Amino acid sequence: MNFKIPRGTQDILPGKVELWQFVEEKARDLCRRYNYKEIRTPMFEQTELFMRGVGDTTDIVQKEMYTFEDRGGRSLTLRPEGTASTVRSYVEHKLFGNPIQPTKLYYIGPMFRYERPQSGRMRQFVQFGVEALGSADPTIDAEVIALAMEFYRELGLKNLKLVINSLGDTESRNAHRQALVNHFEPRINEFCSDCQARLAKNPLRILDCKKDRDHELMGSAPAILDYLNEESTIYFDKVKKLLSDMNIDFVVDPNLVRGLDYYNNTAFEIMIDGDGFGSITTLSGGGRYNGLVQDIGGPETPGIGFALSIERLLMALEVQNISLPITENLDCYVIAIGEEAKLAAANISFKLRQAGLSCDQDYLDKKMKAQMKAADRFQATFVVIIGESELEKSAAIVKEMATGEQEEIQLVELTNYLQQKLS
Ligand code: HAM
Repeated sequence: MNFKIPRGTQDILPGKVELWQFVEEKARDLCRRYNYKEIRTPMFEQTELFMRGVGDTTDIVQKEMYTFEDRGGRSLTLRPEGTASTVRSYVEHKLFGNPIQPTKLYYIGPMFRYERPQSGRMRQFVQFGVEALGSADPTIDAEVIALAMEFYRELGLKNLKLVINSLGDTESRNAHRQALVNHFEPRINEFCSDCQARLAKNPLRILDCKKDRDHELMGSAPAILDYLNEESTIYFDKVKKLLSDMNIDFVVDPNLVRGLDYYNNTAFEIMIDGDGFGSITTLSGGGRYNGLVQDIGGPETPGIGFALSIERLLMALEVQNISLPITENLDCYVIAIGEEAKLAAANISFKLRQAGLSCDQDYLDKKMKAQMKAADRFQATFVVIIGESELEKSAAIVKEMATGEQEEIQLVELTNYLQQKLS
């Protein structure tokens, strides 16, 4: 029996995993600077949370969730995104009661969607996301967008396009919703069955339909920006001004609706332009969700956030030929010749590791030459060589690989000597 990895997932092997560690570290550092704290929530939740949170007319809930019953008969779902879980946790732990608000959180972790796998679209993918809960001020909208843009910029990505829209507040959305119903209703039988169901429940979702996207009524559908009330317009203007002041370029796309139901006011996506990227050009997305905390059982609390997948980020870096500054070298490789020396080498490695150095050695009785090759392959800064004659003197030969210089050092001095050389 040959076991295969499940479709739409990937193994991340040494050699590639360093890229992941690098970008994850970058994300953590960025969040430290913006004062977002990490939150870790379970990878599965009650199914109902996502139906409520993400919205039961969305593709995610209708077609893409990994839902199962556990042995106790509860319906659980592997999280398709991080916002609903974060908000659930925020409500459950009453974080809204903390004296300092907003509560600024971030997460990095796997999400699961049963989608048709293709490049940039996985069934398990890792999202880095942030959520700021407890402020309805446009400065935090701009901050979240800036954080997302800075992440890409600091990694060296070019040709980014920030697309923003306002989905308005409840009043504006209701007016727009009615206009959409009036627009689509007379010819709704020309649309797919999903859209027919969406008309009554959530007509905005029709604009996001992949099947009917070329229908002539799509292009002429009423745009939300024409239905924004004064408050929503002022809010959106402030977000745009803040972004302009930060020199963050953007375009307004009145058709940007996002694939999840919880958004209102600010919505945004970051896309990438250029060849070699296939059909998937959206790197990240987010927006404001002022009703979500309440929908999930908490007090009325505004929120905003975004998420991106590391998979799409790494794809983009590859397409743009950007190599990350990854240095993975070993401080020291211990080469032993002979049985006695091998025993001594194990102890030397142990002591060096204890002192904080990275260190490795041969475990397969390889010849000197092969051990040297291994040291080379690990890009060891130093090799420590011990044979019988060194052992007799309780010493070792230390060779600096870059210069070829070597010196005999007493074993009792070895740790200190290497620590000094490396510092
Ligand atoms: P989303 O637009 O569904 O929003 O996903 C955000 C990002 O996750 C996408 O832009 C993309 O980078 C990545 N992504 C989504 N699906 C896949 C996939 N199948 N394979 C690889 N990458 C994928 C959300 O998830 C919201 N929770 C974002 C948010 C946070 N809004 C407010 N706060």
